[in-house]
Amino acid sequence: KRPVIISTDPGIDDAVAIAIALFSDQLEVKLISPLAGNVSLEKTTFNTQRLLSFLEKPVAIVPGSRKPLLYPVRDASGVHGKTGMDGYPFPEPTVFPDTSKTAVEAMHDVVAHSDAKVTLVGIGPLTDIALFIHLYPQDLANIDELVLMGGALGRGNFGVLTEFNFGSDPEAAKIVMDSGLKIRIAPMEVGRQAKVMPETSAKIKEFGKVGDMFYDLFSRYRGGSFKTGLHMYDALSMGLILNPAMFTEVETHVAIETQGAMTAGASLMDLRGYLNLPNNATVATDVDSEQFSDWLVAAISQTNQP
Ligand code: BDR
Ligand code: CA
Repeated sequence: KRPVIISTDPGIDDAVAIAIALFSDQLEVKLISPLAGNVSLEKTTFNTQRLLSFLEKPVAIVPGSRKPLLYPVRDASGVHGKTGMDGYPFPEPTVFPDTSKTAVEAMHDVVAHSDAKVTLVGIGPLTDIALFIHLYPQDLANIDELVLMGGALGRGNFGVLTEFNFGSDPEAAKIVMDSGLKIRIAPMEVGRQAKVMPETSAKIKEFGKVGDMFYDLFSRYRGGSFKTGLHMYDALSMGLILNPAMFTEVETHVAIETQGAMTAGASLMDLRGYLNLPNNATVATDVDSEQFSDWLVAAISQTNQP
């Protein structure tokens, strides 16, 4: 099994990605580090606890950053609800965070002691992954790849040219993109192709208590619309790892704007080579939406196995 660390800000689409990872027979989730993003650090930590308790998967939770490196917190509770995971009456958590160390120290502990190379997944702002890169450069050789949902090929969903995960912490995104790690990215537009239509949600609802829970969260999620299709952005990260064949991926240079007063955090995905800089990432430019829906349903069905 591939060892995996997930840096996340649950978040309804984060919850889907986490559940898929936890029930995949190909992955072993070693650590989940919530951070401030969609909602505050307290709330993303509590949501991780609620989710893992509900799924009966007591994986290590180590909370990370409570704000971006330079910018103030700008949340997305309008999309995910006030709690960040509105819509389902989760029972009180039985899994608790480990606060004896920082998220970055926990990442180091996993990566430095892992026999197999670790896959790092970033589906929130990149603050903690950037700090990890900064503090533990010697660990980078033991990272297999860094798989991100973030950035945009064109316009944004956070600012005119910025996507939420990259735009909320531009300096962190820059540190990550300049790290030299092997990076694969599912940008915003691909998330918009991979829409979850009502028929797909109805299939997911069939999968026992987890299906029910996701159906209720989906009914409240404002990433897209329940009727015309939900944007299940973060699930794409698991798609890139578990079913890459459904994507078109291209190698390119991704530069991060940090200076622009109105464009800081914009990801310049230089598909045409204007910048004349070496490739530093593989970017998904398309996904087959039908294959994605089938894969998503199959992946979530794993949560309902005896
Ligand atoms: C990203 O922003 C967040 O709201 C989602 O959870 C996802 O990680 C999409 O732009
Ligand atoms: Ca997220």
